[in-house]
Amino acid sequence: MPESEVNPLAPARLATPPRSTDLGRLDAGVWSATAHRADDGELVIGGVRASALLAEHGSPLYVVDEQDVRERAAAAVADFAAALAAIGAEVELHYASKALLTIDIARWMQEAGLGLDVASAGELEVALAAGIDPARIGLHGNSKPDALLRRAVTAGVGTIIVDSQQEVERLAAVAAEAGRTQPVLVRINSGIHAATHSYLATSHEDQKFGLTFDEARAAIARIREVDGLELAGLHSHIGSSIHDAAGFGAAADRLMRFRAELLAGGPVPEVNLGGGFGIAYLPSDDATPLAELARGIAAEVERACRETGTDLPRLTFEPGRSLVGTGGTTLYTVGTTKTVHVPVDGGTAERRYISVDGGMSDNARPALYEADYCARLANRDSDAAPALARVVGSHCESGDVVVDADWLPADTAPGDLLAVPGTGAYCFSLSNHYNYFERPAVVAVRDGASRTLVRRVTIHDLLALDTAWAGEEH
Ligand SMILES: Cc1ncc(COP(=O)(O)O)c(C=O)c1O
Repeated sequence: MPESEVNPLAPARLATPPRSTDLGRLDAGVWSATAHRADDGELVIGGVRASALLAEHGSPLYVVDEQDVRERAAAAVADFAAALAAIGAEVELHYASKALLTIDIARWMQEAGLGLDVASAGELEVALAAGIDPARIGLHGNSKPDALLRRAVTAGVGTIIVDSQQEVERLAAVAAEAGRTQPVLVRINSGIHAATHSYLATSHEDQKFGLTFDEARAAIARIREVDGLELAGLHSHIGSSIHDAAGFGAAADRLMRFRAELLAGGPVPEVNLGGGFGIAYLPSDDATPLAELARGIAAEVERACRETGTDLPRLTFEPGRSLVGTGGTTLYTVGTTKTVHVPVDGGTAERRYISVDGGMSDNARPALYEADYCARLANRDSDAAPALARVVGSHCESGDVVVDADWLPADTAPGDLLAVPGTGAYCFSLSNHYNYFERPAVVAVRDGASRTLVRRVTIHDLLALDTAWAGEEH
């Protein structure tokens, strides 16, 4: 019988308490490539100890394993190239920068052979500041202001992904004004109901993105006749954090068949199938390897083109989470621990609340999408018995949860350090200053050294934005 009692509050995936010796385990596939434990049990990432990172950069902290991200990006390029070469098609990857964007990370992606997908004026400016080749930038957005369209067109952005018929007219006017012919992709709402959280699904009927096939027919006819625009192809993104390959295959099939119809009226050189490839956040998650997903999609593309008697288009994909998610880890300091007794099944069960010095301001995903994460002690080993824990932030909300459920050593105490893996994607980018919390710095670690990519946003920085602030310290 395991050391700890089975806890009725534990979700099925955590039903069996682990042995104490397993509480420090860093599961492959969940933790970044260089994460390991030093002999004394402390967590080390990129050759740097967790305690050293917090001492130098403050707590909480976003830690990016540079080697992991660079290798994962290069592997993705190779995996998709191999899968599409096998059917005789060209392919290009654009990093979905919304997942995690800094100037350095944009450059790492370009160095790995990727272009960049941006979805706002801010992301575009960061990409241009990083020296990303504008021709390898794709601009997204369901409601792009004219100023953004103008900036993108004059900056020479390679592709603008059109998301409405209204945008066709506005963009044509902007391109004509700039004296440029702007290549565009038309985003298709393919009607695929992606297997993911409803807020992350982007191609079913009742949501804001894309044009239906009928609307796209009209938009493409207009694009082909109007000056200033050139139809580069079609785009589809079915959603994010998806593990089921079927959705990607179905979207590829629908877009290839639609393309076959459109080829009667002119060239459709490119089909961009977006991103959305899920990662493992928990040891129990079973993420499909990118190479396997790429092969599955390539097979659908090949079959649909063969059946419609059409040539293969150039394919583009926009992975985000799958390139940076696992490479990021958040380090926190434990502030308070508390055991609550919850009435259950006519008795009570214990849950340990472990409060850390961050929360929904640095990781909004649990609150937004009920996303699950796991956690491990980062500053030491422990042979204490496992306790069912909930890691929570220190914001003024019960929904301020970082890790809904995991087994942590019962002796986890104030001052301990906790690490949460898989926070490389959609954590920094969704961060906020709720309760006037500072935004943690983003540091890259590699070969025993750390460097700040984005410095902490301090209370002082926030105060400096307040026009009534006189600037004096109190
Ligand atoms: C158009 C588009 N492409 C790509 C992505 C990247 O998705 P993921 O990070 O899940 O790969 C997104 C994410 O929302 C998106 O909206």
